[in-house]
Amino acid sequence: FSLRHLNTFGIDAKAAVYLPVDGVDMLLAVRNDKELSVLPRLILGGGSNLLLTQDFPGLVLHMRGAGMHIVDEDETCVYVKASAGENWHRFVQWTLDLGLGGLENLSLIPGSVGAAPIQNIGAYGVEVKDRFHSLTAFDFVDGKTITLDNAACRFGYRDSVFKQALRDRAVVLDVTFALPKQWQANMNYADVMQELSLRQITAPSPRDIADAVIAIRTRKLPDPAQIGNAGSFFKNPIVQAQQRDALLVQHPQLVSYAQPDGSYKLAAGWLIDQCGWKGKSLGAAGVYEKQALVLVNRGGASGKEIAALAQAIQTDVQEKFSVKLEPEPVFI
Ligand code: EPU
Repeated sequence: FSLRHLNTFGIDAKAAVYLPVDGVDMLLAVRNDKELSVLPRLILGGGSNLLLTQDFPGLVLHMRGAGMHIVDEDETCVYVKASAGENWHRFVQWTLDLGLGGLENLSLIPGSVGAAPIQNIGAYGVEVKDRFHSLTAFDFVDGKTITLDNAACRFGYRDSVFKQALRDRAVVLDVTFALPKQWQANMNYADVMQELSLRQITAPSPRDIADAVIAIRTRKLPDPAQIGNAGSFFKNPIVQAQQRDALLVQHPQLVSYAQPDGSYKLAAGWLIDQCGWKGKSLGAAGVYEKQALVLVNRGGASGKEIAALAQAIQTDVQEKFSVKLEPEPVFI
């Protein structure tokens, strides 16, 4: 079964067995099936954070269940819940159409609702963890449905318990978000501020911010429907203040952001750009012209070719800056 249309890199890898999943009953059936239960499993959402470096010799479970609704409200928040298979951007726009702010900075991120908490997606100063209330997941080991609150998910920068202890074990079924009634615009990000002032908007609504974010993303990031990619290919590396200060002496233009714990996050896109990789290619794998942090499939690239390009970039950044870049997508 070809997975080409199920990963945003558009890589033509094959799965031994493919099963679309619309609910927990099907997962229970897989768990109880003698043949299926022993296969290696790959849980697939929108396929936007994935690099298929070879065919997958197991079972692909494609989360398809859709649907979203308001579930509750109290003095401070409105609670909205969406099924794992729901498209993330569609869900965000639905909350905005209801007049609910909180997720607008996360507009136009590719992928599904179920995948959003796995890597704690984030953009323009907001992360999923900031609006996350809880989720339910199917635990393949115990065969039970579990509920996890914000603390239990152990969210970090592009990280959660689902990439650590619960990796290959928990399958997200639905996610509930707490959207604040006392909404406040998050315009901390220079790009967003700039876009709003271009539009002469001083007191933006959630919709105004969403529109600004959509415009910025459309300019900077390739549309996976046109050019295969998985968004940022590397995480922005975090270094100690000492290393950042030393780098700053050698490279006064270095882009870095102070973290609450005193460490610094470096802009990986800038590091890669400085190594001269922007717009370059290695075979059919390329570095996007407008954002060096995004690797693209220039047509017919294999996952191995993308991985080889990533490796070459890591080597150069390590040599020039002594910084280790860590990939953001999951390698299969
Ligand atoms: N930069 C360059 N050259 C480049 C790319 C970037 O010099 O080729 C510089 C920019 O000028 C800017 C800095 O690097 O000063 C940061 O760039 P940008 O604002 O585009 O954001 P980013 O740090 O590269 C992160 C997230 C994105 C998210 C944006 C906006 C990660 C790994 N990436 O990118 O998330 O949309 O911030 O918040 O944290 C994703 O994770 O897939 C993703 C797209």
